[in-house]
Amino acid sequence: MFRRQLVTAPNSDDDEEMTRTLQVVAVSGSLNHPSKTTVLVEEIVAALGRALPIETHLITLTQLGPSLAGALTRAELPRAAEDELQRIEAADILVVASPVYRASFTGLFKHLFDFVDQYALVDTPVLLAASGGSERHALIIEHQFRPLFAFFQALTLPVGIYAHDSDFVDYRLTNESLRARIDKAVAKAVPVIRSNVEEKDEIERSLEGEVVSAQ
Ligand SMILES: Cc1cc2nc3c(=O)[nH]c(=O)nc-3n(C[C@H](O)[C@H](O)[C@H](O)COP(=O)(O)O)c2cc1C
Repeated sequence: MFRRQLVTAPNSDDDEEMTRTLQVVAVSGSLNHPSKTTVLVEEIVAALGRALPIETHLITLTQLGPSLAGALTRAELPRAAEDELQRIEAADILVVASPVYRASFTGLFKHLFDFVDQYALVDTPVLLAASGGSERHALIIEHQFRPLFAFFQALTLPVGIYAHDSDFVDYRLTNESLRARIDKAVAKAVPVIRSNVEEKDEIERSLEGEVVSAQ
């Protein structure tokens, strides 16, 4: 039901530095298919894949949303939705995006993150993106997304990406300056992601070492 793809960066100069494939979970809060927001997410993931060795799992609210909408608590969710939540909580990197609806993300996007454990995203790098019909709502990234992920104590990456409807033709991204913005966001994100993952892996290794030496 949900697409999984492997995107690797075999020719990246920095490849040696990453010792493992990073798990990217991408979330599109769009209620439409096809969707400009989902296309934006896919472009961001492709750019990340050119810079880092990643495996991507895409969650779309068009597919997941109906099973979330009737649930008031996490215990009421079907197994497939619980699996998606666990993928979000275990991700090395999140790419999150929503169309602007009434000056915010879609209600179902928020409903999904209302089920995410409060502490599961601590220090998880999160790349923020949105798509809207008005240029005037570009600050949704700073005023809506960043506070939500700050609540989770996630590591929101410095450059967010806002797309306007006119950046797409037939659900293809056609605006080169938006592409440049994606490249800039990824270029700024990569060093942060690298040091974040290396630090977490180092902690993991030392904890494993402590367990082994205590046995
Ligand atoms: C119910 C609804 C509310 C919307 N509210 C806004 C809004 O407040 N600001 C804005 O810029 N665009 C708004 N839009 C336009 C969408 O955000 C925009 O067309 C977006 O690119 C659609 O993405 P999608 O193709 O992934 O559905 C709204 C669209 C709908 C259907």
